[in-house]
Amino acid sequence: MNALTGTYQLNGGTTIPKLGFGTWLLKEGDECYDAVAAALEAGYRHIDTARAYHNEASVGRAVRDSGIPREEIFITSKVPAEAKSYDAAVEQFAITMREIGLDYLDLLLIHAPWPWDEMGKDCRAENKEVWRAMEGFLADGRVRAIGVSNFTRPDLESLLPACTTIPAVDQIQWYIGYDVADTVAACAEHGIVVEAYSPFAHGRIVNHPDIVDMGRRYEVSAPQLSLRYLLQKGAVPLPKATTRDHILTNAQVDFEISDADMAILDGMHDTETHPGAVQFRWS
Ligand SMILES: NC(=O)c1ccc[n+]([C@@H]2O[C@H](COP(=O)([O-])OP(=O)(O)OC[C@H]3O[C@@H](n4cnc5c(N)ncnc54)[C@H](OP(=O)(O)O)[C@@H]3O)[C@@H](O)[C@H]2O)c1
Repeated sequence: MNALTGTYQLNGGTTIPKLGFGTWLLKEGDECYDAVAAALEAGYRHIDTARAYHNEASVGRAVRDSGIPREEIFITSKVPAEAKSYDAAVEQFAITMREIGLDYLDLLLIHAPWPWDEMGKDCRAENKEVWRAMEGFLADGRVRAIGVSNFTRPDLESLLPACTTIPAVDQIQWYIGYDVADTVAACAEHGIVVEAYSPFAHGRIVNHPDIVDMGRRYEVSAPQLSLRYLLQKGAVPLPKATTRDHILTNAQVDFEISDADMAILDGMHDTETHPGAVQFRWS
């Protein structure tokens, strides 16, 4: 099925386009507006933003200006990782809706289980409060689905007993060589769709010799191979690109990686020990 038009079913009954477009680090203003407009023109129908990216206004403007019916575009935003109370979630969501200028969001996520500068902090009780606020947004129709991001199995398992609505999605870092097996298994057990952020390891994968070599056999680039790998794993990849050519070619992923090559890719491990260095070893 075509990656741009194919969808997964979410547990709440809505559907999500299989390939998204990431907007982290796209600057508010022309840079973000132009990239999102180019993505929509190229056929992407799924845009991922966040309150923390400070570009929701440009995302909303590009969506409104596109002339594409609102119901044909899937828009995600996120409650900031630092908003860890019911009131903070309500307040931040109000800002998101004002900035983005749309009647509803398709998906709203808790950005992370802990504030970014307190990674690993125990916010289990606080996340339940944030979730209660998000269930309210769902009930009043301002969002169509709710989910989480950067949640591991223990994070999910602590939240689930408090949920009236099970998270529809867990958005996690996932690229070839990055081990997410336990989180992916936990999501499968609860019918949660996994979204793969940083599918190019922030760009580090683009020139990886083994991935480039395998891509050559399929007549695709390393980024295209990376996206196809994640689609065949059942994930929703969220590539970010600013360059028009990247935006276009990242959408051309309608080929099939063989089972044997999927196994080779599954066996790779990112053994990065310091920023900027990427090494893979065969397992
Ligand atoms: N939930 C979370 O906590 C979280 C965290 C990180 C990311 N995300 C989401 O995931 C999205 C993607 O992750 P990311 O932004 O970290 O990085 P990424 O998508 O892994 O990589 C982006 C980098 O790859 C380059 N690139 C893209 N397509 C390419 C191509 N075909 N050939 C060569 N280079 C290419 C981009 O260059 P150009 O820009 O120059 O085209 C950019 O430098 C984010 O934008 C965001 O929506 C979520």
